Amino acid sequence: MSSRWQLNLDRASFLEQYWQRRPLLVRSAIEGFEPPVDANELAGLAMEEDVEARIIEQHNGRWHLEHGPFSDNAYQRPASWTLLVQSVDHYIPGVEGLRRMIDFIPQWRVDDVMVSYAVDGGSVGPHYDNYDVFLLQGEGERLWQLGQTCDESSRLLPHDELRILDQFTVEQEFLLQRGDMLYIPPGLAHWGVARGECTTFSLGFRAPRIVDMVSRWADQLVDSLGGGEFYQDPGRNALIRPGEISATDMQRVREKIRHALESVKDEHWFGELVTEPRSEPSPLDGDARAYLGSGFSHVDLLAPARLAWQQQQGNTVQVYANGVSRPFAAAVIPILEQLCGNGSFRMEKSENNKELNELSALFQFLLETGVIHVR
Ligand code: SIN
Ligand code: CO
Repeated sequence: MSSRWQLNLDRASFLEQYWQRRPLLVRSAIEGFEPPVDANELAGLAMEEDVEARIIEQHNGRWHLEHGPFSDNAYQRPASWTLLVQSVDHYIPGVEGLRRMIDFIPQWRVDDVMVSYAVDGGSVGPHYDNYDVFLLQGEGERLWQLGQTCDESSRLLPHDELRILDQFTVEQEFLLQRGDMLYIPPGLAHWGVARGECTTFSLGFRAPRIVDMVSRWADQLVDSLGGGEFYQDPGRNALIRPGEISATDMQRVREKIRHALESVKDEHWFGELVTEPRSEPSPLDGDARAYLGSGFSHVDLLAPARLAWQQQQGNTVQVYANGVSRPFAAAVIPILEQLCGNGSFRMEKSENNKELNELSALFQFLLETGVIHVR
């Protein structure tokens, strides 16, 4: 179980006034914050094969990017540099706890915790992100400047991978110290420069692209429609202008399509889309029934796991785990709430056969999708 952090934030007013709208500085967002990972551990993580890490450096007025894994000598550089390590919450329980601290936004909107370490003057340049982020200051200090609102048309410096803004207009400036936190909504230009060595925790969000939602929804529509129905035009008027596709024909087409769209009731594609994992999950071997039969046991949610659920009509719940879904009896909802809320669940030995069947079916699914481990 990861440690719990207390976030000093008025959730209701944050959601009402700032979330997705405007930036917010929260001084001492975590009172007496002791960063759960330091520069050495971060450098060590960035040496591992499976860990996604980058170094960004500004040298002779140009920006450079290198991808990990890194070796020791990558950390000896003359110019100002920043090491960024993605999904540190998957590896370090204290960092997973920081992600879990964001318990007032649905988990399907929460992505991962990236941690950066920078030497004095290090920065990733002025840029904007497509997603919301909470920037929590770890060790040291960082000067954050906030600028203009950007979109796809904002001009970028020429670079194959980095998205650094060509222009940056400073509108606000904040010096963050350990435990301070800055919320930045999508599209807002920002630029954080290290004052001395520092670490920053980026608690990042995700949101599905509209194009991906349409594509997944259309896939489901196509599957459920089959090929048996055709365009129909009883009572049509005689052709007047040879070759024409008439406005009335197009209206019939639109009506047919609208009718087809309304016939799709199944919305499982959405939960499957938003629980897609960042990396391939590793399901664990095991038989849930054997665990349940053996008495008391603990079920823990794995740190990278993506789990969500949706109550359905007819006393069932659709459970989404790492991008796949299955229906279960609604009786398992309290277990799902505990797993999603606390990251763990304590199983009691059950004498009730029906309950045992439902529980073991759920846990078998969660084992097979690589969402839990059992101890
Ligand atoms: C950083 O930690 O240096 C960059 C984080 C960000 O700007 O999104
Ligand atoms: Co950013």
